[in-house]
Parts: sequence; structure tokens; C-alpha cells
Amino acid sequence: KKRVLTGITTTGTPHLGNYVGAIRPAIAASRDTSSDSFFFLADYHALIKCQDPEHVASSSREIAATWLALGLDTEQAVFYRQSDIPEITELTWVLCCSAAKGLMNRAHAYKAAVQVNEEAGEDPDFGVTMGLFNYPVLMAADILMFNAHQVPVGRDQIQHLEMARDIAQRFNHNYAELFTLPEAVVDDNVAVLQGLDGRKMSKSYNNTIPLFLPEKQLRKHINKIKTNLLEPGEPKDPDDSTVFQVWSAFASAEETARMRAEFAAGIAWGEAKKQLFELVNDELAAARERYNALMEDPGYIESVLKRGAERAREHSAPLLAKVREAVGIRAMG
Ligand code: TYM
Repeated sequence: KKRVLTGITTTGTPHLGNYVGAIRPAIAASRDTSSDSFFFLADYHALIKCQDPEHVASSSREIAATWLALGLDTEQAVFYRQSDIPEITELTWVLCCSAAKGLMNRAHAYKAAVQVNEEAGEDPDFGVTMGLFNYPVLMAADILMFNAHQVPVGRDQIQHLEMARDIAQRFNHNYAELFTLPEAVVDDNVAVLQGLDGRKMSKSYNNTIPLFLPEKQLRKHINKIKTNLLEPGEPKDPDDSTVFQVWSAFASAEETARMRAEFAAGIAWGEAKKQLFELVNDELAAARERYNALMEDPGYIESVLKRGAERAREHSAPLLAKVREAVGIRAMG
């Protein structure tokens, strides 16, 4: 059976970009019974970006509640927390010992940090932790530990998937054919959702629309989406508009075509945003209520994750045993 796996870093509140790029397609894929799905909270990844323990803990709870509220079927999909699977961190070390440092030097997140330092005239590695540098190896372990075939992600994660394949190939070549080479699955229509300022929606840019904002706040955020200064009646370019981009990530093909025509006919920004709010709110309103109820019941969330971890370890424990055997970490008698 084909195996689908994806994770989300537990920093900050999930936003529309995470929803459209990762959570919605992952939940849809989990309904397809011809494949097995593994979804997890990447809480050890969160430590790379956030050293505030309370924030790490509350983000994990919010993100778990988000997946459950959006209808993840936890009987069908295996839903767990990375930190509950000790085999993942153990495998990370083994993979570190065959992953090439030169490969990691090319990782986008690391290179971006170095570039910022260089531009500021600092030491290139100023503020760079080993966690940031090893990030792609931990991510490779997440994926390889479960022999995932397909990994639905946003475009920003493609390089990490290539690195995971490279790391798997090296291990398979050096020791034993234990790992499946994973593939990124990117939905081209909605690969990178734009944020309020038109750049990629991202917690690091502070331009997000959080997924379960109360209705009033959601309306306010949508009203804040940057638009150019065209008057009502002037034709607007849908392909250069965040309002339209978000619209098309939520609307059916027909509704998208209709909005395209409205743009050409010069719909007023206020009207386009009002319709966008209604569209997004309709899709999320019921889930928002479930989310609020779940946030009041952390014991339930914990029990779901614990059960998920047990199921996940049925796969990770035997595979890690094979890895240890393959590299020569063995019992002596
Ligand atoms: P993270 O937590 O940054 O993002 C989670 C998922 O959301 C996607 N995404 C977006 N998609 C469309 N538009 C956007 N504006 C947008 N912002 C984020 C991301 O591409 C991602 O798919 N390293 C990963 C988490 C991770 C992981 C893994 C993923 C850890 N281990 C193993 C897959 C497999 C990350 O930081 O994603």
C-alpha cells in the first residue's frame, strides 16, 4: 500500500497557507483508503525556531486541535507527535553520520541565515545553531522512518525532500536497502499562498491570516490584504492580486471563473473582500466551533496523540532495529 506522510512545525498558530498548502490536501488524501496516511506534529523542529517552552507547548495543542477540528479521521490516519517517537531522533543521529555536510551547506534556511549575517558584516554563522543546520536531517528521519512514498508539502519544502532522497540513497548504498525514496507532492494550483502584504504567507513575515480567527477578526484580516489603488469600475488584474489568489484557493473552478470576470469588469476591492470573507468563513465556520471545543479538552487531544504514537511505533521500532543491525550496533551474545 502507498504511504503518505506529512508534518507541520509546531510554532505559532496555523494559518490559511498551512491549511491550503498542507492540511487540507493531507486530510483529503487520508480519506483515500487505497493509501496509508501518517501525519505528525514536528515539535522537535519547533525548538529550532522557538526557545519559549510555553509557546512550543501551546502551539502543539493548537495545531493538534486544528487537524482534529478539520475532520482528520484518526482511525484511518496515524496521527502522532514527533517527540513521542524516540526512534526518529535515534535515526537522525545515524543519518547524520552518512549525510554530507556539503549538502546541508546548500539548504535554503541555512543559506538565508548566512546571507543575512554577511550583509550585516557579522560572522557568517552568527546565531546559527546546530539545530538549524541539521534541520533537513531530522526531517529526512521523519520521512524515512516510515518508508513514506509521498509527502504532500508546499513548494518551500521541495529541497528538503530532495535532501531526504539523497540521504536515503547514501544509506541504502552504504549499508542495506532499508529506505524508500520519498517524493514531494505539490499542488501547483495552490502551492504558495500569499499573505497580507503579498509575500508568501509565513509566520516569519508576520503577514498571516490565522485559520480559526473569530469571525470579526477574520473579516478585519481579509480587509487588510494589500491591494493596489484602483478605483471601483477600473479593470483589475486577477493574476497580480492576493485577494484573487486566496479566492481561487477556496472557490470552485466555476466560482473562480466568475470572480475572474468580475475583476475584468472592475469589481470594487471592498466588494471582492466581502465576498472573499464569506467564502472563507463558510468553509471554516463549523470547524472553528469544533476547534474551540477541542481547545477546552486537552486530555482528549493527548489521548488521541498517545494512541497515534503507539500505532506509529509499530512501524518505527522494527525498522530502527534493522537500521541498528545494518550499521553494526548489535547485541554481543
Ligand atoms: P511548516 O510548518 O513551515 O509548514 C507546514 C506545511 O505548510 C506548507 N506551507 C504553505 N503552503 C502554501 N502556502 C504557504 N504560504 C505555506 N506556508 C507553509 C509547508 O510547505 C508545509 O508543507 N519542515 C516542515 C515540517 C516538517 C515536515 C517533515 C514536512 C518536518 N518534518 C516531514 C513533511 C515531512 C515545515 O517547517 O513546515
